[in-house]
Parts: sequence; C-alpha cells; structure tokens
Amino acid sequence: MSKGDIERIQEDFAAAAKRTTQAGFDALELHGAHGYLISQFLSPAMNRRQDEYGGSLENRARFALEVVEKVKAAVGDSCLIYIRLGVADGIADGLTLEEGRQVAKWLVRSGVKMLHVSGGVGGAPAVDPAVSGNWSPTLRLAAQIKTVVDVPVIGVGGIIHPEQAEAALDAGLADLIAVGKAMLADPLWASKALGHIQAPINVCRACPRCGHFKHPFVCPAHPRA
Ligand SMILES: Cc1cc2nc3c(=O)[nH]c(=O)nc-3n(C[C@H](O)[C@H](O)[C@H](O)COP(=O)(O)O)c2cc1C
Ligand code: SF4
Repeated sequence: MSKGDIERIQEDFAAAAKRTTQAGFDALELHGAHGYLISQFLSPAMNRRQDEYGGSLENRARFALEVVEKVKAAVGDSCLIYIRLGVADGIADGLTLEEGRQVAKWLVRSGVKMLHVSGGVGGAPAVDPAVSGNWSPTLRLAAQIKTVVDVPVIGVGGIIHPEQAEAALDAGLADLIAVGKAMLADPLWASKALGHIQAPINVCRACPRCGHFKHPFVCPAHPRA
C-alpha cells in the first residue's frame, strides 16, 4: 500500500463509522483481529514495511491508532467506539501477547472505550489444554488484557451455556462475554439466558465442522442456520 492507499482506507473507515451513527447505532466495533487489515499491520510476520508503518511496534500500531483518530473525528461523542483486537498471532514470528498488551494500552489512551479480545493473524496462539483448563485460548487472552487496561474487556470463545459465561465473569477473566457459535445454534440464546423466554436452549454441540472455511456446513443443533 502506498501512503495514499493508507490514507484512503483510513478515510473509508471514518466514512463507514459515520454511516453507522447516521443509521442510529450507539456503538461501533472496529475490526482489529483475525488477520484483517489492522491485524496485518500489527503483525511482524505480515508487515514487512520499511517506513513509519512497519518495523517497531510503535510503527506497526500507527495504522490502528490513526484509524481510531479518524473514526473519532468522524463520529464525535455520538457513538461509543471500541475494537476487536487480535492481541497475539497464532503464527510463528507474529505479534506477541506482550506486544498486544502494549497496543491495547495505546488504543485505550487514544480513546477506545472497550476491548473485545481475540486472536490476530492465524487466530489465537495455541495453548496447552493442560494449562488452559476450562477456558478457551481467546478467553485466556482477555484475562491477560484485563490486567493492563481500565476499560471493559469483552472475552469470547467456547461459551456454550449461560452458566459458563457467569463463571468466566466470576473468575475475573473479562467484564463482558461475547457468544458466537452458541447463538448460531440458538438465536434466542440471550433471551433464554435472561429468562425472557422460558424454553430450553438449543445447545451448540461444539462440533468441528463450524468455521469459516468449511462450507457447506449444516448445524446439527439448528439446521436452518
Ligand atoms: C461460522 C462462523 C463465522 C464467523 N464469522 C466471524 C466474522 O465474520 N467476524 C468475526 O470477527 N468473527 C467471526 N467468527 C468468530 C466469532 O466471532 C467468535 O470469535 C468465535 O466463534 C469464538 O466464539 P464462540 O466459541 O462463542 O463461537 C465466526 C465464527 C464462526 C463459527
Ligand atoms: S455447527 Fe456445530 S459448532 Fe457450529 S453452531 Fe452448530 S452445533 Fe455449534
């Protein structure tokens, strides 16, 4: 990307953010995880630039921080801005958790109001199940970020039952829990968890076929999903 490309895409982030406020949303989540563009800039394995956007961590974080600045300028106080941040890469020579913790602090200092913690390029680093215990690698990453920032941290990954979400909160891993597959298996999961709908949850079976690259898949818990 030329500097012009960088500026143009940052302006696109700002324009998209502006549209979310015009559409009436109260909050917007920037995507800075999973190997998308912000995540690529952060990753030393992907980012081979030799200008001020590559090399040192400060340089690799520049793109993300400038996006936040431009988005803030576009939406003002009308919308809460937060970010889904890949705080560590799942590939060799990628972003380390130590670096991700520093980026998290810089983003908070720049005005991001929450952090939704996930993996970066290649997903989250693998964790030995013996060490991981009951919690997914991404939830454990959230716990590592929670200790270095003073904004709410959203944790995600492997939560199937509402009780597990409560237990993760009680254990202090995160301040909020996000749920993916369990809500694919039962779109009414949250209403049922809250007791607003009195019916059993269609429980996600955590089967291996659920994922981006394994199409077509049929969800055994919710065939219409
Ligand atoms: C079929 C499928 C599609 C997904 N699509 C996205 C996506 O577009 N953007 C994103 O940030 N995460 C996406 N994810 C990841 C989820 O947001 C979530 O982080 C992940 O599934 C772990 O949470 P869970 O165990 O509660 O599902 C997807 C996950 C699945 C299973
Ligand atoms: S396909 Fe399997 S893992 Fe995915 S939501 Fe359905 S039951 Fe859960």
